[in-house]
Amino acid sequence: MSVKIDYVVAPGGALRGRARVPGDKSISHRAIMLGSIAEGVTRIRGFLEAEDALATLAAFRRMGVAVEGPDSGRLTIYGVGMHGLKAPSEPLDLGNSGTSMRLLCGLLAGQPFDSVLIGDASLSRRPMRRVTEPLKQMGAKIETTPEGTAPIRIFGGRKLTGIHYQMPVASAQVKSALLLAGLYAEGETCVVEPAPTRDHTERMLLGFGYPVRREGKRVCLQGGGKLQGCDLDVPADISSAAFFLVGASIAPGSEVLLEHVGINPTRTGVLEILRLMGAKIEVLDPRSIGGEPVADLKVSYAPLQGIRIPEALVPLAIDEFPVLFVAAACAEGETVLTGAGELRVKESDRIQVMADGLKALGIDARPTPDGMVIRGGQLKGGRVHSHGDHRIAMAFAIAALRAQGPIEIEDCANVATSFPGFAELAGRLGLALEAVRRG
Ligand code: S3P
Repeated sequence: MSVKIDYVVAPGGALRGRARVPGDKSISHRAIMLGSIAEGVTRIRGFLEAEDALATLAAFRRMGVAVEGPDSGRLTIYGVGMHGLKAPSEPLDLGNSGTSMRLLCGLLAGQPFDSVLIGDASLSRRPMRRVTEPLKQMGAKIETTPEGTAPIRIFGGRKLTGIHYQMPVASAQVKSALLLAGLYAEGETCVVEPAPTRDHTERMLLGFGYPVRREGKRVCLQGGGKLQGCDLDVPADISSAAFFLVGASIAPGSEVLLEHVGINPTRTGVLEILRLMGAKIEVLDPRSIGGEPVADLKVSYAPLQGIRIPEALVPLAIDEFPVLFVAAACAEGETVLTGAGELRVKESDRIQVMADGLKALGIDARPTPDGMVIRGGQLKGGRVHSHGDHRIAMAFAIAALRAQGPIEIEDCANVATSFPGFAELAGRLGLALEAVRRG
């Protein structure tokens, strides 16, 4: 990477105003994938023009899909149908994006051609056997490194057969990869989740006219059908809104209205956890947009208390823990998180990296194998490292609202993977953030 970006955030202040954060990352990935293999045209509004979703878009362009845009979140995809993708001439580089890589494993396992998936240093460390093993059970031929990581080589022309798979981890990426492979498999593919995970794939398949059956913890589909192009409106990403939900909750004098936020119940763990801590969040004008629930969220300052986070909420808030740890650092008393070992295999080891950073800022944060114990206290200023993880960078920027001195955060360029314009938007709402280029 050539240019390095650090954040320097002055302490104190409040967040005030209204904003629409960028489009939902999970939904944006899926819109490209399903639009590409659908018949006819798919028009998308609110698409997330950030590096991760753009990596998915570039991969499908390399496989011969014609796409106009993105232009201010608008995109037109000319679907090639279930069997219209072309062999990519080079490895598909998915950058930092775990969702692109894992979902593509499933989709590409059912194609007649070979493909290779690569990613950046962080993505090349992340576990991929969780998708390649069940795909092999379906008949796919896939190779990873001996460590079970990328590069991933997928051999085409294999006959896939549906399986009934009990997932050992609660993962929407694994579930989605198997459902996408299941589209190309003979018979029925069923996935059973140990706990509910985000269900955007299932909802969007239905939107494209593909039958999906849900019975309790089981999701099933029959292979061999087809998808019909449609119009999609991508809501604002609750995972991006989360930074301002926490920021406004911890900074006295704050009041923020976040517009058109996706409030799919498989994503709203952050609202429930913050409310259990005493946050003041109102859900205004709830509505349904293209099969996904949406609302405006009004959040104002409220003193927070430490809690024991219910384990059932963990998969429903899995991406929000970096900033929830900041909320815990500003709360009265102790917050205990358990059952969240998955955080160790995200873009960084989010348990260790957040504990190290919070300790550097004077907070008693004790990492455990599957969570953290945080005692609320006074944040000092200091220098922390994001380890190239977008959500760690943004979480520590928000922490400055309650710090005694400036917080410097190293290596923030990857904020562009999920939240383009974060520094500007946070600045407009009242965060004194300066992005400094190095190198
Ligand atoms: C995602 C699922 C989650 C989440 C990731 C996006 C998705 O990952 O952390 O940011 O779009 O399906 P896991 O399935 O690994 O929990």
